[in-house]
Amino acid sequence: MPAHIAIIMDGNGRFAEGKGLPRLEGHKLGAQSVQSVTRECRRLGVKALTLYAFSAQNWSRPAAEVAGLMELLESYLVGEREELTGNDIRLQTIGQTEMLPDSVQEALAETKRLTEHCRSMTLTLALSYDSRQEIANAAQKLAMSGTKVTQASLSQMLSTATLPPVDLMIRTSGEQRISNFLLWELAYSELYFTETPWPEFREADLLTAIESYGARERRFGMTSAQIENEGKK
Ligand code: IPE
Ligand code: IPE
Ligand code: MG
Repeated sequence: MPAHIAIIMDGNGRFAEGKGLPRLEGHKLGAQSVQSVTRECRRLGVKALTLYAFSAQNWSRPAAEVAGLMELLESYLVGEREELTGNDIRLQTIGQTEMLPDSVQEALAETKRLTEHCRSMTLTLALSYDSRQEIANAAQKLAMSGTKVTQASLSQMLSTATLPPVDLMIRTSGEQRISNFLLWELAYSELYFTETPWPEFREADLLTAIESYGARERRFGMTSAQIENEGKK
């Protein structure tokens, strides 16, 4: 079982458009997938789930879509409070959340506060997230403090520092790119791409992705024989 799963939740807009619906309807259905997948991860004992919900680049979308997404985010944050506390899931975020509208920031702060004590799983939402910017900021902070820039010191400066390494990264909707998500953290993650659009990605699809992950051999630069020997030790 992967300890940490990260997901690029893609394809909401195209899914809706394909059904002749406004893009926002796709985002609404996508919020239901968030709930299903979060529940399933918790049930399976996954320790960390990180969801790419809104990239820094997504601010460039039409104002009406951005506004709709922000409203949806706020209602999600308020609506999921009981679900999260009831399932012992801690909510946290990565990204430039100070860019979000005040009402969303307030909803976020309250949901974080209410779930602070939860320990069974950490749900991290990437919001206004820009991985290159994160790495640049981390390097800048280290330089300013006079700390030597090493892999360890830089990892410690990132907002993901307290999370386990990403074991499995899933992207839905057929696109096969990283889109500025967790560039540093994905160094040795297993990647899983599926044609299924995010609004249709539910429990069974997650299980299929985890099965694919389970069938892989992670070698971290070593040979297959070395990995087998390690397993026997
Ligand atoms: C993902 O779905 C959600 C966000 C990026 C906010 P998209 O909105 O990117 O859907 P497509 O890729 O246009 O279909
Ligand atoms: C990435 O999806 C961001 C999120 C899923 C939140 P996009 O749909 O914005 O990515 P690109 O622009 O197609 O690469
Ligand atoms: Mg997209």
